[in-house]
Amino acid sequence: MEDLKISEEEGKIHNIFAEGTTFKDLALREELIEACDKLGWSTPTHIQAESIPHALEGRDMIGLAQTGSGKTGAFALPILHALLENPQPFFACVIAPIRELAAQISKHFEALGSIVGVKCATLMGGLSKMDETIALGKRPHIIVATPGRLLDHLSNTKGFSLRTLKYLVLDEADKLLNADFEKVIKEILEEIPRDRKTYLFSATMTEKVGKLKRACLKNPVKVEASSKYSTNDTLKQEFLFIPAKYKDVYLVYLLNEMRENTSMIFTRTCESTRLIALILRNLGFRAIPLHGQMTEPKRLGALNKFKGSQCNILVCTDVGSRGLDMQVDLVINYDIPQNSKDYCHRVGRTARAGRSGMALSLVNQYEVEWFRHIEDRIEKKLNIYPTEAAEVLLLADSVTDSKRKALTDIKENGGSRKRRRNGEEEDGEEIDTHFAGTLKKKGKSFKKSSKSKRR
Ligand SMILES: Nc1ncnc2c1ncn2[C@@H]1O[C@H](COP(=O)(O)OP(=O)(O)OP(=O)(O)O)[C@@H](O)[C@H]1O
Ligand SMILES: [Mg+2]
Repeated sequence: MEDLKISEEEGKIHNIFAEGTTFKDLALREELIEACDKLGWSTPTHIQAESIPHALEGRDMIGLAQTGSGKTGAFALPILHALLENPQPFFACVIAPIRELAAQISKHFEALGSIVGVKCATLMGGLSKMDETIALGKRPHIIVATPGRLLDHLSNTKGFSLRTLKYLVLDEADKLLNADFEKVIKEILEEIPRDRKTYLFSATMTEKVGKLKRACLKNPVKVEASSKYSTNDTLKQEFLFIPAKYKDVYLVYLLNEMRENTSMIFTRTCESTRLIALILRNLGFRAIPLHGQMTEPKRLGALNKFKGSQCNILVCTDVGSRGLDMQVDLVINYDIPQNSKDYCHRVGRTARAGRSGMALSLVNQYEVEWFRHIEDRIEKKLNIYPTEAAEVLLLADSVTDSKRKALTDIKENGGSRKRRRNGEEEDGEEIDTHFAGTLKKKGKSFKKSSKSKRR
């Protein structure tokens, strides 16, 4: 188990940065260099150093770089640079496939543009449309939106149009150019001038020309700071091969070993996300679910709890797999994704910005083929994470008991338990401290978590 300890790596920034290049060399405006400095960005990352000069020359871009390598800055900085040269409302629009990611990108723009008072509006499903309409009325410079809500405003919000737009960004572009979003993206593009700059960014890019054509790029330059499916060198990736019926027990064992760390657990369905979170909470873990069937305020609440210190385990579907930038030490694939792109994005929630992290995949007898396919795509043969079956199975009874309670709870209350405590209604998605301390605390840490600060 000693090899799990990565504390000596903590805080060590690995080389995702472009050595010998400074933000000054990139000829960015002084205000932006100052903003980068304020954020602690002393050196541009590779993707920033390689793409910003092309952007400043006015080229369309396809940017491919690993998870956590600073792609947001790579498109936000040149857009803000151009905005400072020619300020106007509705200057740029960034589209992202996930609501919480849209909110995060807005914050990025606001942080980088704070010195010059850049105004941003975030348009995303699940929150008040009225508030968004008011924000649009203030004529923001930058709009960050999920596709459906953006189209909704373009079609229904009086006085709002993107006819003067200068820049369009598709973040997580491969996802946005998929069939799921084809119709809505097409309709949005019809409302946006052809004479604009277009940037596509992702850690996994489609090579299919037909799909790329959907974005209407003009003579784009392709900036690649990584190969198509690469995972970060600072990420330690291992797997456990276990029978399907013991997955929960192994999951609990791993989390108990590493209870001082912050972990994201990925599952395939909303139901299993909820069930696993309940099982874990029954056993005293500070776990919270995040999935697409939760209301947006609950989703944001869950993320805030995870970013703060109330919860250190986020159990989520792939709704949490792309773009989110939080401090995560460990990613566990409870279910193996069938798509190797999803694997890259999931494990990319840790080991970001040159930091270390760990990803463990629980592979059962039915998932071996998917897992081998992932290994082929990432071009890495992963090692087995060593465990003693007899030691793990000691937990089987308490896990079974806790699962039974969780299933009863879901059956009786549809999984969103509402209880009354001190006269106040509580929701099952909230952290429940009733059961805390059921498992013997082991807390084998692979980092000095007590000293670590959440981003
Ligand atoms: N030049 C820099 N110096 C230091 N930190 C940086 C720099 N640029 C970005 N970062 C930080 O790196 C982290 C990851 O950035 P970002 O979210 O843009 O990554 P990404 O490449 O978009 O990842 P993903 O593929 O997961 O979306 C953020 O916390 C960001 O603040
Ligand atoms: Mg990103």
